[in-house]
Amino acid sequence: SAAEKGGYDYFMLKEIAEQPKAVADTLLGRIDAAGSLTLDELRISAAELREVDKVVIVACGTAFHAGLIAKYAIEHWTRIPCEVELASEFRYRDPILGARSLVIAISQSGETMDTLMALRHAREQGSKVLAICNTNGSTIPRESDAVLYTHAGPEVAVASTKAFLTQLVACYLVALYLGQVRGTKWGDEIQAVIRDLSRISNEVERVLETMEPVRELARSLADKKTVLFLGRHVGYPVALEGALKLKELAYMHAEGFAAGELKHGPIALIEEDLPVVVVVPSPRGRSVLHDKIVSNIQEIRARGARTIVIAEEGDETVVPYADHLIRIPATPTLLQPLVATVPLQVFACELATARGNEVDQPRNLAKSVTVE
Ligand code: G6P
Repeated sequence: SAAEKGGYDYFMLKEIAEQPKAVADTLLGRIDAAGSLTLDELRISAAELREVDKVVIVACGTAFHAGLIAKYAIEHWTRIPCEVELASEFRYRDPILGARSLVIAISQSGETMDTLMALRHAREQGSKVLAICNTNGSTIPRESDAVLYTHAGPEVAVASTKAFLTQLVACYLVALYLGQVRGTKWGDEIQAVIRDLSRISNEVERVLETMEPVRELARSLADKKTVLFLGRHVGYPVALEGALKLKELAYMHAEGFAAGELKHGPIALIEEDLPVVVVVPSPRGRSVLHDKIVSNIQEIRARGARTIVIAEEGDETVVPYADHLIRIPATPTLLQPLVATVPLQVFACELATARGNEVDQPRNLAKSVTVE
């Protein structure tokens, strides 16, 4: 009913709007006054976490994209090797797991069969499994050794939005906590990131306030057949997520590529007026990557692409090459997905609406897939 949708036309719009709160709620009570993390609820002891020699993340769909981003954070902050795998592929290749492997299963519903089978396989190999889940008491957390709940609240729309942002937050918390208990050499950076994380829900709010041009752009592209997405570093999984949203909601051909791969194939797809969304990393931090992406934008534009550039406020270098410029607030590199994903959700939702599609219940899809 309209009341359930809180005055919005679709649950998805409501859930997009709830993201600042979902992010804040997921952090609530997990950062103490001194700015350290308190994840006592984990039920895996600090001693056990210090023994972990490998992290393996398993998930499906949007949750898999959260896992891809988590890898960058976990390896950077903890120096523990981290693999990410589609849950449906995991057990069939006899993965190498042991008692010191920490397997993280990410699932909004907690009922996805592929993810459940992957975690059962991991536990049979003697690994500890930590679930990151949005649904209290669901099967995946019940069968795991420990759980860190995301506090997104119920997500009704089939296409995941607020659950994704909170999965990212939970992954960052786990990564930072692993760094904290292991006393990695990134101690100062960890403290700084915890401070930035506690401010990030305001930044998500700011992004939401500037979405009208994105909706307008989406409507203008309603007749297109294909949209490509490019990103690099953590922007690469963001590109994959942007493409997934467009497939799910707009039923359009959409593909995400690592921008560095452009020259190894995808650039052949570029033709006159093809919309290409590019997620630009911050010019601060890893500025080499920033400059490389800017050349990618020039290359595709020279071949006729219509460039839709998502770049940090104050990044002026992209202005001459952006047919459409979407601004996001400056954040530390690893946290950028929390703000960069939001315009892509809005973009896909508006395109679906413009094409007359059912936003909350896309054809052929289910909110939670309980068969393998
Ligand atoms: C289905 C949904 C996706 C979701 C995926 C994983 O395919 O349509 O939106 O990302 O399942 O769901 P989970 O509940 O495990 O996060």
